[in-house]
Amino acid sequence: PVHRPLAGRRALVTSGPTHEPIDPVRYIANRSSGKQGHAIAAALARLGASVTLVTGPTREPDPPGCTVHPVETAREMLAACEAALPADVAVCAAAVADWRVADAAERKLKKEGGGPPSLVLVENPDILATLSQPGARRPALVIGFAAETGDVLAYATAKRARKGCDWIVANDVSPGTGTFGGSENTVHLIRADGAESWPTMGKDAVAARLAEAIAGHFA
Ligand code: PMT
Repeated sequence: PVHRPLAGRRALVTSGPTHEPIDPVRYIANRSSGKQGHAIAAALARLGASVTLVTGPTREPDPPGCTVHPVETAREMLAACEAALPADVAVCAAAVADWRVADAAERKLKKEGGGPPSLVLVENPDILATLSQPGARRPALVIGFAAETGDVLAYATAKRARKGCDWIVANDVSPGTGTFGGSENTVHLIRADGAESWPTMGKDAVAARLAEAIAGHFA
């Protein structure tokens, strides 16, 4: 018998980095490969959910059975997420740039003359916090990630409260962990009633276990 506990449910997943332009040829980004977010989209689809994946630039193939919306910037990611609502569950695994360049140059910045440019940064919209805001369009279950480099549980627990989401998947992204770009992850699932620490496993296995927890929530 096929196990499709999420049949009839709509899921929104974000994945990958965002690219924030400096000028037409340069951008600010981060080390997210999209592996974890794409694996979550695939796992939810396997359990029968109808999945929209909004992804920044990655080398990952489109996960089977998902509707994929590629974007570059945080602002584009937010717009694509809002267009994908309503959803029963949202999982924000993307590593969204917190800041963008205030006035991206329309023409390539030139090295000749003037010396190195100063970049003025402004804050990007927070997609997870926006999706978590109370209201008719809020997904019933909003799950964020927390990428930390120390005091993972404490920072992630605080992040859950600050962002207003229901669950946080916390992971350590310190150099040497291989969390960014690697194929394995060590995560803690933080819910209202406490934290659960999972053993190190493949990102596909993390995704499958998270998808089962989501299915359990809706059962
Ligand atoms: O892509 P991989 O190479 O497989 O690596 C996986 C991962 C490390 C990127 C992933 O597991 C992960 O931790 N993703 C979240 C990365 C991140 O940006 O974490 P954060 O602690 O800075 O942000 C907290 C949460 O807010 C995240 O759910 C993030 O998607 C969200 N956010 C952050 C900033 C912003 N402007 N908008 C957001 O929605």
